[in-house]
Amino acid sequence: MKQFTLGMIGLGTMGRNLLLNMADNGFQVTGYDKDPKMLKKLEEDGKAHDLKGFASLEDFIQSLELPRRVMLLVPAGPIVDSVIQELVPLLSKGDMIIDSGNSHFTDTSRRADELSKQGIHFFGMGISGGEEGARFGPSMMPGGDKQAYNAVKPILEAVSAKVNGDPCVTYIGPGASGHFVKMVHNGIEYAMMQVLAETYALLKHSLGYSNEQIYTTFDKWNNGRLKSFLLEVTKDIFKVKDPKTGNLLLDMIKDEAKSKGTGKWTSQVSMDLQLPIPTINEAVSTRDLSKFKSLRVALSKALPHQGEAIDHKEAFEVQLEQALYFAMIISYAQGLHLLEAASAEYKYELNLKEISQIWRGGCIIRAELLEDIYQAYKKNPELPHLFSDESIQHKLKDIVPGTRHVVITAIAHGIAIPCYASALTYYDSLRTANSPLNLTQAQRDFFGAHTFERVDEEGIFHADWNSTN
Ligand code: 6PG
Repeated sequence: MKQFTLGMIGLGTMGRNLLLNMADNGFQVTGYDKDPKMLKKLEEDGKAHDLKGFASLEDFIQSLELPRRVMLLVPAGPIVDSVIQELVPLLSKGDMIIDSGNSHFTDTSRRADELSKQGIHFFGMGISGGEEGARFGPSMMPGGDKQAYNAVKPILEAVSAKVNGDPCVTYIGPGASGHFVKMVHNGIEYAMMQVLAETYALLKHSLGYSNEQIYTTFDKWNNGRLKSFLLEVTKDIFKVKDPKTGNLLLDMIKDEAKSKGTGKWTSQVSMDLQLPIPTINEAVSTRDLSKFKSLRVALSKALPHQGEAIDHKEAFEVQLEQALYFAMIISYAQGLHLLEAASAEYKYELNLKEISQIWRGGCIIRAELLEDIYQAYKKNPELPHLFSDESIQHKLKDIVPGTRHVVITAIAHGIAIPCYASALTYYDSLRTANSPLNLTQAQRDFFGAHTFERVDEEGIFHADWNSTN
């Protein structure tokens, strides 16, 4: 029987596309799916490579070279556990399972621990880039046993996106680090998407731009330093007509955003690690707030706000481009800061230079700006924070005045800009040498005897706040 180099379980669009990508790159691969329709689709799409799948899990496993490389692209959650359960009795020591869905990193840790007892390497690998990325070059974040990684490295490097010849995949680190990094990637994605939505609100309501003008503005910006996958698709949305009504499709879409959870997980972990990512948090909360549609409609009537027209439209548009660039920097800065804290806590040995390098292509948050971020970590792999890099500092100094003006204007106009406002406040908080939080410590000690530290002496102190000396 033919021996295949890798087998994919789950032949939905992502799994099938990734398999086709592997076949294009000359790898002998196969797949398994319970659904015969999926097997048929694989055969049709993979005709050029005579790509076929199996309807029997046993036959599929028997067709793989040893040590086996089995990749899962099935929905995250309990399905992953049930597939593993079916698989394990058929596998041998040294085989490798790669879960390429958006699994929660704690599930990945648990599965890796359980499977290592049976001599099976379990990899959690985040894949970004959507259907197109899977087919023609995604960014991939694999984490697990380093030696086992070498068994899939040539395949992953061949199928990944490339930037200046560099593959957009690297060994991320041990344990569940791959899924952790993908989760934070998605947190950054949420923040950038929300900032783009806020920009749309400002162009539409503060500047009174038509959909065509918004397209033109985004298109112009996307030819400059803001060039990014998310801005590119956002701009294109402003061209797509609804076949039913002939209106812009966007205008026919309900303004209630859904999510699958990766953004929320990022916020939850940041709270656990006490490493603030307020702009990402705002993006998560804003999607949740959007669900209160009928309440919002009622309150828009009960509590109306009369905005003022902007006189200097051209100047405001220039400032808005600066504010968008600023908020993008902040989104990456918060995500990378969280990765650093997680690396120390979970012993992930993350390399932020390599992570920013593989995010430059293939993934949803790919952007021109990531080249500068990559260069910053290349110059100093120990950078305490993205803001510590001098070239990033130059950028920030240049765009902060415009950003302040945008935030002030939006607030004056009563336009909700949670991510812009939080990005600016995050920046201001971090560049404040003497914060007012000495007062918080005094209050805690006053009513709870929680003690405080002094500025002039080492040690822990408690004061008698009720004495009137
Ligand atoms: C990617 C995306 C991908 C997916 C998100 C959507 O990197 O390719 O992040 O993973 O689009 O899971 O997440 P929400 O449904 O939560 O918006």
